Amino acid sequence: MSDSRGSIHGEWSSRWAFILAATGSAVGLGNIWKFPYITGENGGGAFVLVYLICIAVIGIPIMMAEIMIGRRGRRSPINTMRVLAKQGRHSPHWKYLGWTGVVAGFLIISYYSVIAGWAMAYVFRSAGAAFEGATADGVASIFSELVSDPERLIAWHSIFMVLTMIVVSRGVASGLEKAVRYLMPSLFVLLLLLLGYSMSTGAFMQGVSFMFNPNFSALSGEAILIAMGHAFFTLSLGMGAIMVYGSYLNKDTSIAKTSITIALADTSVALVAGLAIFPIVFANDLEAAAGPGLIFQTLPLAFGHMPGGTLFGTLFFILLVFAAWSSAISLIEPAVTWLVETLHMDRVRASVYSGLAAWLLGIGTVFSFNLWSDVTFFGKTFFDLLDYLTANIMLPLGGLAIALFAGWIMVRGTVKEELKLQHPRMFQLWYLLVRYVTPVAVIIVFISLQG
Ligand code: PFF
Repeated sequence: MSDSRGSIHGEWSSRWAFILAATGSAVGLGNIWKFPYITGENGGGAFVLVYLICIAVIGIPIMMAEIMIGRRGRRSPINTMRVLAKQGRHSPHWKYLGWTGVVAGFLIISYYSVIAGWAMAYVFRSAGAAFEGATADGVASIFSELVSDPERLIAWHSIFMVLTMIVVSRGVASGLEKAVRYLMPSLFVLLLLLLGYSMSTGAFMQGVSFMFNPNFSALSGEAILIAMGHAFFTLSLGMGAIMVYGSYLNKDTSIAKTSITIALADTSVALVAGLAIFPIVFANDLEAAAGPGLIFQTLPLAFGHMPGGTLFGTLFFILLVFAAWSSAISLIEPAVTWLVETLHMDRVRASVYSGLAAWLLGIGTVFSFNLWSDVTFFGKTFFDLLDYLTANIMLPLGGLAIALFAGWIMVRGTVKEELKLQHPRMFQLWYLLVRYVTPVAVIIVFISLQG
């Protein structure tokens, strides 16, 4: 296979186009919805610290590995793994790693779409001034009224899934770029506005101390696993999403710089979201460990009490939907590229089939918040189980395998050539991280959980 081969699925128009799309994939519900609620459930500071360490030591090196593998292979993750393994004279069975990624993405999009549906519903709540002058009890009942209504949730879930299928069927490289370029910065500005509100609640320092004052006695082994899993989830790693995007990347882009830029942008959004939310929690005597409803029960209070809150709230939820949208696309892209390449389906059909199957599975998540809220498997609802299995098990294992693949399976010279790091020491550091540090760290977290 020659180096200059392009991807049959197209190529980004520039380095910025890639950064925007990858940031669009990374920044999503994971940052604004999930990070705050799992931080709240896992005691704050120590959890945040472990998450930040995982981003730096595991996330960034694995992101570099994924982009590098994708750009080298120029195919869907499944076929990329097969071809590159063969080149290194290793078993083509590495393609199963691509498979687990496709399955993980498919499982994640099924529930991701349901939660994005909540955000869509909130656009209309906010525009209808439902939050004006709201009390904590008032917003809690708006939320519980929504999630206890399966029909409404299914309707929003369906709309979101159709929107996702439309973009995916047209090919990700077109359209997405522009949306991300303007909408992501706007979302960040609105988060800063919320942060400003939080500073005025009188409980800002309490929020800061909750997030950054580590109390290690509150940190369980399971919390460490969740923090590590979230580092993968939030950076879209361990399932081939970033690998697919890397496969559309031109040869001259610096993978290291790009990965660091994406990780910094992603982490800033999560931290600002947390800093905006926790002061509201404490100022209103709410429960930090409220779970998946946390942002929907806190942010409306801010919008309900700030000048122009109806407008800002509406805009905020619109932008949140866009952020979710640009992530959702990357969740089914690995499956779609595989269907196109291997079964020679056209893109539209591949997108419709994948979306439809994920939509069906998503009904299970819808019911887990109402009709099936008492039905548990291993002590978890259907949604919790899917989330746990994907974010905390499948993505870290996928990431582990990607690190091993880049560190041990691919030919060192190829890897070096593809990464083109300017300083030889940088390459050595990265190679050390993916060969030893990252795999060992992931394995230790898994083993310690058994104890
Ligand atoms: N990173 C996205 C978020 O934080 O919302 C979720 C996600 C997208 C996870 C793509 C995995 C993925 F491949």
